[in-house]
Amino acid sequence: MDKKSQNIKWRQKLHIEPPVGWLNDPNGLCWFQGKYHVYFQYAPDDINGGVKKSWGHYQSPDMINWEFTGTVLVPDIPEDRDGVYSGSAIARDDMLHLFYTGNVKEKGNYDYVLNGRGANVIHVTTNDGHHMSEKKVVLRNSDYPDYCSCHVRDPKVWQENEMYYMILGARTRDDKGCVLFYQSQDLDKWEYVRTYDVPDMGYMWECPDCFMVDGHRYIGISPQGLPRETERNQNIFSSGYFLNRDFKEFDYGFDFYAPQTFEAPDGRRILIGWMGIGDSAYTNPTTALGWQHCLTIPRKLSRLEDGTLLQNPMREYDSLRGEKITLKGEQKVSLPFDLTAQINGDFEIVINNGLTLSLRENMFCIDFNNQPMGYGRTIRRVRTEQCRDIRMIADMSSIEVYLDGGRYVMSTRFYPDEENIRIKADGINAEIYKMKGMVISINGE
Ligand code: FRU
Repeated sequence: MDKKSQNIKWRQKLHIEPPVGWLNDPNGLCWFQGKYHVYFQYAPDDINGGVKKSWGHYQSPDMINWEFTGTVLVPDIPEDRDGVYSGSAIARDDMLHLFYTGNVKEKGNYDYVLNGRGANVIHVTTNDGHHMSEKKVVLRNSDYPDYCSCHVRDPKVWQENEMYYMILGARTRDDKGCVLFYQSQDLDKWEYVRTYDVPDMGYMWECPDCFMVDGHRYIGISPQGLPRETERNQNIFSSGYFLNRDFKEFDYGFDFYAPQTFEAPDGRRILIGWMGIGDSAYTNPTTALGWQHCLTIPRKLSRLEDGTLLQNPMREYDSLRGEKITLKGEQKVSLPFDLTAQINGDFEIVINNGLTLSLRENMFCIDFNNQPMGYGRTIRRVRTEQCRDIRMIADMSSIEVYLDGGRYVMSTRFYPDEENIRIKADGINAEIYKMKGMVISINGE
C-alpha cells in the first residue's frame, strides 16, 4: 500500500482531524455569531504532541460544513511560553472571550509538581473567532489555595444570572484530584469560591466541566490515577461525571478523553471529546502519514429520570445518511456508515473476520482478537443493565457505538486495510446507511 492511498483510506470523513500534526483536547466549544467554533489542542509540527501546544480552530454554520482557519493561539508571552493549554469560550455581546492555561516550565532541577511549573489562567478576546486580542493573565499560582500543587489548569467558564463562574482542575500537594470554583463580575477579576473533591478519585482531575442538562447540574472531570479494572476505568486515564458523588464514565472505549460541553443555539447540551488518550500502549499508524488523532462526533446530552446522562450523535449527522441496506449474513460495506438495530438478546458483529462487537449475558465487548488493525488495542467491556438498541457510526478509521439509547458509549480507532470492510452479523437484524462525508476546507495552513 503506498503512502497516498493509505492517506485517503484512513482520513476521517465524519470527524474533525488536524490537517497535519497532533491534536488533543477540544477547547473553546461554542456558538458565536452564527457559527459553531471548535478549537483544539494542536501541535502542527510535532506528530507526538510533545512540544508547546497551540490552539487550532475550525468553524461551521451547521456541524457539517467545516472550515479550518489555522493556528489561532500560540505560546508567545512569558506566561504561556511552554504551551497554550486547554480552556473554554464564553460569548458576551459581540465578543468571544477565551480562557486557557498558560503553561510555564522553569529551567532547572524541578519536579514540576510541587515546584518549577507556572499555571496561569489567560484571557483573550476575539470578534471573529480567529483574530485574537492581547493576552491578559487573570490568575497565577499564588491565586490558588495553598494545598494545591503546581498542577492547576483547564478553565471552563460559564454564566449564571449576572455572575460568571470558572471551574479549574487541580492536583493537591498530597496527590489528590479536585476542582476549584472561582467567580467574577467582569471576566477579569476572579475570586476563589470553593473546592469540590471526592475521596479515592485519583491524583489529578483534568479538563473539568460544570454544566446543566434538562435543568440539572453536572460536574464532569477527566481523572488521572484511578485503578484500572476489567469492566470500568479500563484506560490509563478516565473521563466521566458525578451522579450523587458516584463517578459515571462517559465512554468505555479505548480512545476517549478530556471532553467538553457547550450549549447549541437551540438549547441542546453538546459534548465533544478527544478520540484519543495520552500515554496509551496502543498506537495510531497515521503518525507515519503526518497526522494523529481526531475529535468525537458531537453528542447531544439528555437525562434519564434517575439522572443518568444519555449521549447520542447530534441529529445534524442524520442528514449525511445515504443509501440504506439491510445486513444479511456477511457483506462488504464501504466506510463510512451508520448502522442501527434493535436488540432482542445476545448478538455478534464481526468486522474483517477479527474485530468483534458482541453482547453476551449483559456484557458488551469490543475485542480486537489480536488483529493488526487494532495497533495494540485489545478488549474493552461494559456491563449493560439492559440493551435494547445499538447505533454504530463507523468512519474511515474509527467506530463509535451507542447502546441502549445512548446510555453506554464506546469509541475506538481501528485501521482496516481497505475502505471496504467485511461485516458479518449474528443474532441481530441491522440496517446500514452509507454516509456522505462532511465538507472540510482547510485555510491558513
Ligand atoms: C488533557 C491535558 C490538559 C492540558 C492539555 C495539554 O489531555 O493534559 O490537562 O491542558 O492536555 O495539551
